[in-house]
Amino acid sequence: MAVLKLEEIARDFSDGRQMRRVLFPTDAEFKPGALTVLSGPSGSGKTTLLSIMGLVLRPSEGSLYLDRREVTSVSDNEAAMLRLRNYGFVFQQPMLIDGLSVMENIALAFAVQGAGLPDDFLANGEGLLKSLGLEGTAHMQPRLLSGGMKQRASIARALIKDPAILLCDEPTSALDAESGQAVMTILKHIAIEEGRVVIVVSHDARVFPYADRLIKMENGTIVSDTRERYLEGKEVK
Ligand SMILES: Nc1ncnc2c1ncn2[C@@H]1O[C@H](COP(=O)(O)OP(=O)(O)OP(=O)(O)O)[C@@H](O)[C@H]1O
Ligand SMILES: [Mg+2]
Repeated sequence: MAVLKLEEIARDFSDGRQMRRVLFPTDAEFKPGALTVLSGPSGSGKTTLLSIMGLVLRPSEGSLYLDRREVTSVSDNEAAMLRLRNYGFVFQQPMLIDGLSVMENIALAFAVQGAGLPDDFLANGEGLLKSLGLEGTAHMQPRLLSGGMKQRASIARALIKDPAILLCDEPTSALDAESGQAVMTILKHIAIEEGRVVIVVSHDARVFPYADRLIKMENGTIVSDTRERYLEGKEVK
């Protein structure tokens, strides 16, 4: 079943004088259990499309479905609730708060929802840290971690509420090659083994081999979409 479905989604922005179309009507659907890489040149509309899929930005036209429910015109409060329940977000910068421990940063995922911590929070948090190669960092300050470790901690924060959808905008762009590969291996596992929808925006060709599906954008339009499994850099049916 498609978890996310876009029908004729378009977006206009004002450039100060007039409205300009930055995303032309776009159809797409995303099912769990695959890692999709969304690529294309700077300004092609990748972040705009990802933000619309994440209910962070409203489309100017078209319909967005989350688990078959049309969510295009829900209220801002409802959009926030849907975001908090269904999505995890990972960005280029890990955006961890210094002064809080790694585990307290992860707990923020609940705090922003105004919810108390569930009884199993600490056990789940420790388990997540371990699975991300961050065992023993729960009480550390983020500034003591390497860039790759910080990014993995931000993935733990994104996953603590067990979201069906993980949206990542340039998650490896600020990392060295080795840390970038470690992050992509983790994101791939999260998609395939945990059965989530994982969408990674990246213009870095080094992430392409991890893609089950590679979508390319140019000038606000999807110009290619493999929908097929990539293995060892080769497309196979
Ligand atoms: N809030 C905004 N107001 C006006 N124009 C915007 C806004 N956000 C994005 N744009 C414009 O929309 C176009 C697409 O931007 P977008 O950020 O989606 O591109 P991108 O593919 O993510 O680029 P990059 O690789 O540089 O991150 C750009 O021309 C950008 O200037
Ligand atoms: Mg962008």
